[in-house]
Amino acid sequence: MKPDEILQDRTATSVPTVAAPARKVYVKTYGCQMNVYDSQRMTDALEADGYVATPTIDDADLVLLNTCHIREKAAEKVYSELGRIRDMKEERAEAGRELVIGVTGCVAQAEGREIIRRAPAVDLVIGPQTYHRLPEALKKVRGGGKVVETDYALDDKFEHLPQPKRTEIISRGVTAFLTVQEGCDKFCTFCVVPYTRGSEVSRPVAQILAEAERLAEAGVREVTLLGQNVNAWHGVGPDGSEWGLGRLLFRLAEIPGLARLRYTTSHPRDMDDELIAAHRDLAALMPYLHLPVQSGSDRMLKAMNRKHSAADYLRLIERIRNARPDIAMSGDFIVGFPGETEADFEATMQLVRNVGYAQAFSFKYSPRPGTPGAELKDQVEEPVKDERLQRLQGLLMDQQSGFVASLVGRTIEALIEKPGRQAGQIVGRSPWLQPVILDEKAGRIGDIVNARIMRTGHASLFAEPA
Ligand code: SAH
Ligand code: SF4
Ligand code: F3S
Repeated sequence: MKPDEILQDRTATSVPTVAAPARKVYVKTYGCQMNVYDSQRMTDALEADGYVATPTIDDADLVLLNTCHIREKAAEKVYSELGRIRDMKEERAEAGRELVIGVTGCVAQAEGREIIRRAPAVDLVIGPQTYHRLPEALKKVRGGGKVVETDYALDDKFEHLPQPKRTEIISRGVTAFLTVQEGCDKFCTFCVVPYTRGSEVSRPVAQILAEAERLAEAGVREVTLLGQNVNAWHGVGPDGSEWGLGRLLFRLAEIPGLARLRYTTSHPRDMDDELIAAHRDLAALMPYLHLPVQSGSDRMLKAMNRKHSAADYLRLIERIRNARPDIAMSGDFIVGFPGETEADFEATMQLVRNVGYAQAFSFKYSPRPGTPGAELKDQVEEPVKDERLQRLQGLLMDQQSGFVASLVGRTIEALIEKPGRQAGQIVGRSPWLQPVILDEKAGRIGDIVNARIMRTGHASLFAEPA
């Protein structure tokens, strides 16, 4: 019997004690993977403080909205959700029950006290750098105050945020995120991230290894390293020397049980030789790379302050493909940045044709308050942005379906992650992130199985064990 089972048994047979029911927290996550990771770490911090997590808002005593500020639509979603929750809070108050509302994440950091001005039902606003102070802030709120914490804390939050319990890691599945780097010093002129996440901070090697080992011991098979600029990560190694992401990946690949490694999001300027060598030498490093370029026009790239040309990006991809020929590329694109002409847009289309993406994300430029892009004249009109986005997405969709179709008939490795939606099915993940649907007899959760792809669904693969 494993130690946790013994523990559970003992609790089951012990005399029940009468205690106040635990407070319940419901966390709703918007935005990128780092917010997903942060939501889990906040939940861990609250659970260590006596809360239990609930998957529904209805029985929650505390609601946290972990928000995203990247585009206007993302930020505005929060206010409509706050409207609904305010009504709930009022109903609760009539019934004599409390509902505490907290806003965390990038909108919290960017707007601070303004959130409480626009949505007075909010009790707590806390930015990404001070999550370790959440339990303390909640005590102040329960004392009847409003709390706004948006400092860039000087203490290392990662040192103070509790690690999840082994049982919780298991219930979260066989894949996990691990933040290694946070913040950004690149200041692309369209982007709010340097303002919401602050300047670049890299976690030290020992901290990352300890977290990865815990995950592996709890049965996690695949870890995705996270950072706004993950390949700019440079951490202090146990010997005091500075490591780059390539070296870290080589070390992580030695951890028993960790079969798959990924990292996201990278910047083209930070792909160094050691990282490319990791793609060449490490079977565990999945042959899939998200490498945003935003535009194929040098004029736009300059205006965006990306600090590389379209040709630099294409040469880089060639080097990566020489190292790892089966690598599939993914990217991000912005259409309609101020001053973008039809010729600039056509350069983006041409770059996409040259690269051939397995997957991609494309967005209409959204002017963000406080960023240099928002101040530029020559903002592109909405209908023009719409039309360009449609053309770009058409091309990207064709490439994506082409990639998925090219897998039919091939035998690939799938990491089995969860039961399927239909009885008797099980769902795995391909090296390039597509869901792989198999008969449940093909293997158990956590297994890596050889799967022969028979046909494709919308973006998923139907397979038989090979
Ligand atoms: N750190 C990552 C991405 C951060 S945001 C990187 O450097 O690539 C994710 C994507 O959102 C960006 O790659 C960009 O394509 C898009 N994005 C960021 N700001 C935007 C804005 N103001 N309008 C539209 N899209 C934006
Ligand atoms: Fe934003 Fe540019 Fe930093 Fe990415 S590199 S987070 S797009 S400023
Ligand atoms: Fe959004 Fe903040 Fe991530 S703005 S994309 S949640 S870093």
